[in-house]
Amino acid sequence: MRAAIAAAETSRLATIAVLSKVQVMRSHSVSAEGGTAAVLFREEGDNEESHIYDTVKGSDFLADQDVAERLVKMMPLEIYQLDHWGMPWSRRSDGRIDQRKFGGYSFPRATYAQDKVGFYEMQTLYDTSLKYENIEFYNEWFCTSILHNSNRFAGVTAIEMKSGQFVIFKAPSGIICTGGAGRIYSFSTYAYSSTPDGLDMAYRAGLGIKDMEFVQFHPTGILPSGILITEGARGEGGYLINKSGERFMKKYAPEKLELAPRDVVSRSMIREIQEGRGMKHETGADCLALDLTHLGEEAIKERLAGIREIGIKFSGVDIIRESIQIRPVCHYMMGGIHTNIDGSTEMSGLWAAGEASCNSTHGSNRLGANSTSECLVWGRITGELAARHAANKERPSIIGEQVSQEEKRIYDGIFRGSGEVNPYDIRKTLTDTMDDKAYVFRDEAGLSEGLKRLKNLKGMAWKHVDDQAKEYNTNFCNVMEIDSMLRIAEIVLTGALNRRESRGAHARTDYPGRDDVNFLKHSLAYYSDSEPCMKWHPVTFTRYAPVERKY
Ligand code: FUM
Repeated sequence: MRAAIAAAETSRLATIAVLSKVQVMRSHSVSAEGGTAAVLFREEGDNEESHIYDTVKGSDFLADQDVAERLVKMMPLEIYQLDHWGMPWSRRSDGRIDQRKFGGYSFPRATYAQDKVGFYEMQTLYDTSLKYENIEFYNEWFCTSILHNSNRFAGVTAIEMKSGQFVIFKAPSGIICTGGAGRIYSFSTYAYSSTPDGLDMAYRAGLGIKDMEFVQFHPTGILPSGILITEGARGEGGYLINKSGERFMKKYAPEKLELAPRDVVSRSMIREIQEGRGMKHETGADCLALDLTHLGEEAIKERLAGIREIGIKFSGVDIIRESIQIRPVCHYMMGGIHTNIDGSTEMSGLWAAGEASCNSTHGSNRLGANSTSECLVWGRITGELAARHAANKERPSIIGEQVSQEEKRIYDGIFRGSGEVNPYDIRKTLTDTMDDKAYVFRDEAGLSEGLKRLKNLKGMAWKHVDDQAKEYNTNFCNVMEIDSMLRIAEIVLTGALNRRESRGAHARTDYPGRDDVNFLKHSLAYYSDSEPCMKWHPVTFTRYAPVERKY
């Protein structure tokens, strides 16, 4: 929506279609909780240099440093822009916008609206976008493929879910903002709709998918659902405790404690559990606990009301009175569609922004609150560039053969497919395999076994749709989603197997050290009929040489 607004402001003549497989306000960004990072309080000592360095250090030096710099420099304006559009930021008693502490930062830098930041940001953007007559929403349209001509973007194919109609959208410019792929894991903070359809469209169109081995596990997912308890809870002073009530983070990150970056905290938690100091949830799952009781009722009701409600409704725990059991949960993909600093993909006329993209701001580990920031900054950048491109360029013509091949792929290959295997069993085995083999710690044996299972799943006769209705065929959409999940999960496992080092969120027990000599580079996956074709891509350095991370 940020991209659509930027495009509308850049060109009053452009016709802007926002295609979304869910009603836009049901997109997963509404679940973002804790904050949006920006430097606001220069007069109190914060500065851009510090935000850039925290981001680069947090990334374990795999961030492209020019990209991190652009994020940091553009962010303050985005905070004020949202404020002007009506965003109800939480404020200090003097009326200034407030910020809270978040993991890995040297300064309280997470701008927040209670603990419902994503909901209010999305509402503000939606409200604003409705003011532009040239933005049109296509809610509940399932996009299936990218159309192109001589490596120039020409449009997309999509199914209107309400009618079941298969439609071609012709356009000179496109922006993929389809979010992350976190539903390739079972234990996940993501909405069920967060499947990698957008990434897979790009992959099938021949574009590179970058750094997918780096999956972020957020320390505090509740059991059994995986719903997020915001890092803002620790930012407000919450403790992580083991079964003896000990604040174990003092052993692993003596300075930052619970506010070390997520990769460090999640690894520490798993070590604590492996060494026998974890707890057991009633489902039998290993876990630890987050204690917020010392914050007091008033502070919790004022600043953490959303997670209190989540705790009561989904765990049966009131965080005012009791600690809540949690464990690391799949929360974010550092990887995505390969773009440059402007969000341009390898196809002329096509951009990607937000979690679907990988412009390399976050390297191998993102700092909390830098994600909604990235969405805003590259929403704006790509929206402006796409609108200018549309105004200047001829429309590449649609190649009929591409459209008929896509119809064949989805209608002959999926809708009219046959087989005895239930596709939902494939989805469950796939996501359980990812939980099991590509979690916080990985090794060669586990990843190879994961890949073997996945290839086995791919070969089974599961591509069929029981519900043959034309209208609102969610069964059809689900099977298309599962198809994309299998391909993108394969990239995660292959990338993780190839990266024989530990860096950021990718921790290999068989290669425990960071290896800057051989692996200070991005991975890239390209489509081939058999398995991903893997390449490497250089990291951009501007000012910081890699050093050992200590927190
Ligand atoms: O913990 C959180 O509120 C998550 C924030 C983020 O992923 O940026």
